Amino acid sequence: AGLFTFDPGFMATASCESKITFIDGEAGLLYYRGYPIEQLAAHSDFLEVCYLLLNGDLPNAEQKSEFVDKVRQHTMVHDQLARFFSGFRRDAHPMAVMVGVVGALSAFYHDSLDITNPEHREISALRLISKVPTIAAMAYKYNIGEPFMYPKNKFSYVENFMHMMFATPCEDYVPNPVLVRALERIFILHADHEQNASTSTVRLAGSSGASPFACVSSGIAALWGPAHGGANEAVLKMLEEIGDVSRVADFMKGVKEKKYRLMGFGHRVYRNMDPRAAVMRETCYEVLKELNLADDPMFKMALELEQIALRDPYFIERKLYPNVDFYSGIVLRALGIPTNMFTVIFALARTIGWISQWSEMIADTERRIGRPRQLYQGATKRDFMPVTER
Ligand code: CMC
Repeated sequence: AGLFTFDPGFMATASCESKITFIDGEAGLLYYRGYPIEQLAAHSDFLEVCYLLLNGDLPNAEQKSEFVDKVRQHTMVHDQLARFFSGFRRDAHPMAVMVGVVGALSAFYHDSLDITNPEHREISALRLISKVPTIAAMAYKYNIGEPFMYPKNKFSYVENFMHMMFATPCEDYVPNPVLVRALERIFILHADHEQNASTSTVRLAGSSGASPFACVSSGIAALWGPAHGGANEAVLKMLEEIGDVSRVADFMKGVKEKKYRLMGFGHRVYRNMDPRAAVMRETCYEVLKELNLADDPMFKMALELEQIALRDPYFIERKLYPNVDFYSGIVLRALGIPTNMFTVIFALARTIGWISQWSEMIADTERRIGRPRQLYQGATKRDFMPVTER
């Protein structure tokens, strides 16, 4: 004891230097490579944000079209990979499928194994950004027993994901620009969030020199937990449990008596507001209006909860505001995405953050393997006794 700093939960330890994402929790600021998240959500698109996170700057027109083309080239998965799915129970949670199948990508690309080669790193990043939506949609189709839909090159990145989710061999998917834009915003807002648990996991796994596909699979595993990526799913479960707008006031009483937590409210880092929530709220209203859902009982309940909480001294005193997941859950539900796919959508969007952080770390020639120490609390030295004498 005394040799090492004890910092459980890494409350006071910076594990790396990074140039990718900046957060100021007190001021409610989130910047990707210096660009405020609000500006990116309003004016950019997800693939441009991917380019930015990966390369450090926004692309010019030529760089952008080259990048979009490259991503498009890699959207198919090897037909052998499709066979992995049949090994899963049909009702397997899609996150379990994601951990397995994305990890399995590490067995497919023997042409890009040299992580010290920047071109190999780039092609691995492209393969991940391109194939994770395909795998995510396959996980959903497998779950509901429908055939896998191949990606279609005429669609944008987000449209293509919706096509693979919602089209069937009998019926085409017809993009609705308001809904496509809403999902694009969800992707942009979730693309990176500096050294959170899953990103730290990717970095730690990567620090040993492991395959980037295996590292991203470890990030998906870390994201799965309810304290991390599962909050948007928890918001919907909470709304289902409340059941009716007439029970909202009672529920809020229970929250103040600390019987339950209002899911989708509060944040460890953001103490005044979550800048992502402001963007998501606006998107949420746009989507509800577009789909004529403002009168849907579930959404009415969510809006009632929000209104009560924003006026209630309990929440005001504790600086509890809606976070990004309060609204993203509502939007995803309105888009027709089932609750068990919510965390998968988060993983899809965060893949670019994980692989950008991994690339940054690998490019650093001074990097060392991540190897935390411990404060040992166990038995002191003792001598072995034969089993008959114990
Ligand atoms: N509902 C009711 N009361 C709350 C809530 C909530 N959601 N969050 C915090 N409080 C109260 C808490 O009871 C405590 O009250 P008191 O001072 O009387 O004891 C006070 O606020 C401070 O709470 P805390 O637990 O010390 O805060 P924390 O920083 O440890 O927790 C949090 C942050 C996000 C885990 C918590 O706010 C929470 O559980 N929120 C609900 C879950 C959620 O929506 N999580 C998604 C976060 S956004 C996605 C991401 O970026 O990962």
